[in-house]
Amino acid sequence: MRAIRIDGFGGFDRLRVEDVSEPRLGIGDVLVRTIASAINPVDDKTRRGGIAGAMPAPPMVLGWDVAGVVLDPGAAMDDLRVGDRVFAMVPQLATGHGTWADLIAIPAHQVARAPEGTSLVEAATLPLPGLTAWQALAGLELRSGQRLLVAGGTGAVGGIAVQLARHVGVEVHALVSRPAQVAAVRALGAEQAFDDPAALEPGTYDAVFDTFGAPVLDAIADGGRYTSVATEAGPVPDLSHRKVRTTLHQVSPDAGALAEIARLVDAGALRARVHAAFPLHRVREAHEHFARGGLTGKIALTF
Ligand SMILES: NC(=O)c1ccc[n+]([C@@H]2O[C@H](COP(=O)([O-])OP(=O)(O)OC[C@H]3O[C@@H](n4cnc5c(N)ncnc54)[C@H](OP(=O)(O)O)[C@@H]3O)[C@@H](O)[C@H]2O)c1
Repeated sequence: MRAIRIDGFGGFDRLRVEDVSEPRLGIGDVLVRTIASAINPVDDKTRRGGIAGAMPAPPMVLGWDVAGVVLDPGAAMDDLRVGDRVFAMVPQLATGHGTWADLIAIPAHQVARAPEGTSLVEAATLPLPGLTAWQALAGLELRSGQRLLVAGGTGAVGGIAVQLARHVGVEVHALVSRPAQVAAVRALGAEQAFDDPAALEPGTYDAVFDTFGAPVLDAIADGGRYTSVATEAGPVPDLSHRKVRTTLHQVSPDAGALAEIARLVDAGALRARVHAAFPLHRVREAHEHFARGGLTGKIALTF
């Protein structure tokens, strides 16, 4: 079967489409034929060798997101059938066996049915950013009517956070990277959008959801909450003197939350955004496109 592997850390030329052996189904695994995946920042950082701490050594198959079709439900046959459309987030850094392969064996507790009303290419853009947004937002414990700032509101995680928060009645403002992104984030439901952090009024937000290490701490109201998913930006600051709770969120697999995400997509409350889709053999071009930034959706890989 085909897989995208790196044989060492470095530039885009490290990405190779290679013939590798098919996965063996372990106890509790589901065998999935990949239809699509997506590029996430973690894939880019892994290829560059930019992930700190313990990680598998190359050669390894990259990729965290997958949408596909069940080939063998294994022991999950009460819940899944051959041919079911599914999606999942696979924590590639734990094993080195990522989702950029024709076939993947995935623990059943990480697999959920894909949304019914979207293509599998669209579905493949949701698992990692969707779970990150879902879990980090839950930690902010927002109530309807409270005010949230999402920093990086047109990004993959930020764009989902904007939509999920709006859905539960939160007033969402967004900080974006450039004027051209203002309209895009407003279309996702942000009531106000800023392209300059200096324009944010101090002390106005019940919570901030930060996706890039934004200079926005003054904008949080005393007693508020701040969560960051930007692990590269370093540890979150201690703001206990202002009674602001600060957390650095790390995503984890959760098929139950994925099922909720699929339900919201089918209910029209959450939109999957594909900026561009590239077939597997154009993976280097896909990465170059991703690295340029300024996207209003995900870069998908099709199999
Ligand atoms: N901790 C976790 O579990 C976890 C999970 C998922 C993601 N992450 C991390 O979270 C970050 C965001 O992920 P993502 O998938 O949402 O990435 P993404 O799609 O690239 O989104 C990042 C967004 O932030 C914007 N941005 C970056 N620098 C900015 C700046 N100085 N001012 C204003 N906007 C800025 C980008 O705009 P432009 O593209 O226009 O520059 C983009 O819209 C990444 O670092 C990723 O590794 C962590």
